[in-house]
Amino acid sequence: MRGLRARLVVVFAVLAGLSALTAAGLVYKQARDLMLTRTEWSVVNEFRLRVSTLTENMQHPPSRAALQQLANGVAPAFLDATGAAVYGDSGLVASGDAVAPLTPDLRRRVAAEQRLVYQRVVRDGDPYLVVGTPVLLRREGTPSGVEVYLVSSLHTEAADQEALVAAARNGVLPVLLLAVLFALVAAGGVLRPVRDLDRAARRLGAGELDTRLKVTGRDELARLVKTFNATAEALETNVSMARRFVADVSHELRTPLASILAMAEVIEEESARLDGDLPEAARLLNLEAGRLVKLVEDLMEISRFDAGAVGLVVDDVDVAQAVAASLRTRRWTSEVEVDVEPGVRVRLDPRRFDVVMANLVGNALRHGAKPVTVSLKKAQDIVIEVADAGPGVDPELLPRVFDRFSKADAARTRSDGSGLGLAIALENARLHGGSIEVGNRPGGGAVFRLTLPREPR
Ligand SMILES: Nc1ncnc2c1ncn2[C@@H]1O[C@H](COP(=O)(O)OP(=O)(O)OP(=O)(O)O)[C@@H](O)[C@H]1O
Ligand SMILES: [Mg+2]
Repeated sequence: MRGLRARLVVVFAVLAGLSALTAAGLVYKQARDLMLTRTEWSVVNEFRLRVSTLTENMQHPPSRAALQQLANGVAPAFLDATGAAVYGDSGLVASGDAVAPLTPDLRRRVAAEQRLVYQRVVRDGDPYLVVGTPVLLRREGTPSGVEVYLVSSLHTEAADQEALVAAARNGVLPVLLLAVLFALVAAGGVLRPVRDLDRAARRLGAGELDTRLKVTGRDELARLVKTFNATAEALETNVSMARRFVADVSHELRTPLASILAMAEVIEEESARLDGDLPEAARLLNLEAGRLVKLVEDLMEISRFDAGAVGLVVDDVDVAQAVAASLRTRRWTSEVEVDVEPGVRVRLDPRRFDVVMANLVGNALRHGAKPVTVSLKKAQDIVIEVADAGPGVDPELLPRVFDRFSKADAARTRSDGSGLGLAIALENARLHGGSIEVGNRPGGGAVFRLTLPREPR
């Protein structure tokens, strides 16, 4: 998600930056052209005017002094310019010494084209406008052989241009910063629905099948949200149908199975008097019938959790007594080391607590090995640890050991359970607002840690 956000911000910022730069560039170019044209135009006009005034009554051929006067006259102080005049092989008579920018090219063109010519030139990094014109003899209108030049510094214009660039740059930077800020906010806005969708998908994956999202707008994202809702709906329907089916099937199986188990017990009792394989067959029949009954009972219990048809019958309980009762019922008292101080009272559903303890201790005895210990650690909540000294939970199974029907590879263990025990135990712990965690001890053996609040949450 962060990657997408970063990419959006970059795209936004680049777009905003490009537009700001383009706009600034266009404004700059326009302003510069306007400025230069205006300057050129006014310098050239002033020059033309002065040349015509100054040459009105000029003697022909002109004296050197007249050329000097002409050169001085076309370059008034306010223009920041140098004037120059030339006649025949008089050489350049100038008003100052800044005539270097006068290019041979300009002089050639004035002579050849016999008209006013101007150029913009850069000399030693400084910009100049150079203008030249031939002087026509007033009466005949023919070339007099006099040429007048003006070298006008565009220094002020260059400074103005720099100021313009600085202004554009100073304008663009804040805009860019603003754009990045805006992009961050906007990206957040664009990504919020994506994040919501991500969270909802996770919730759905975690089993919250009633997860739906609000559809806003009619864009692609809204369509995606609609599709998500429809998918969640279909999933919820399918799962609830499957759950109903399991519930119904288990319910239907219960009564005939109970009869089968009862008859199997009778047959086993009577079979001792029979010969051959029959006593063994009767024993197996009884065993398998018992397992089937337990499987169906577990399935029905799971179905009740799925249907939300479960509640707590809470009682004030002494933990030590509750643990002891659980062990006693299953004749495990001598099998297990108990380290639970008496007098710790909590409020919980004793029947559900018994189901949890029975499975955790039963697992430790069946899948683990002795010594099995049940110990109480207290904190804000009560924590009961059931530890054994067996091989520990198969590392491959560990992440999904609480899933339904998850058992270690049958070939590797002598597991004969259904794999529903821990799933039911966890549901029961959660119903109290508690949890169960599992880990393997470094020295071998599994530890299951049941955490329950003092009062159901
Ligand atoms: N203390 C333990 N040591 C090693 N493996 C364990 C331990 N407890 C559970 N397991 C593994 O986790 C699996 C799942 O346990 P769970 O209690 O859910 O099912 P089960 O004991 O096989 O059957 P059920 O409890 O339904 O009769 C077990 O089959 C076993 O492989
Ligand atoms: Mg079990």
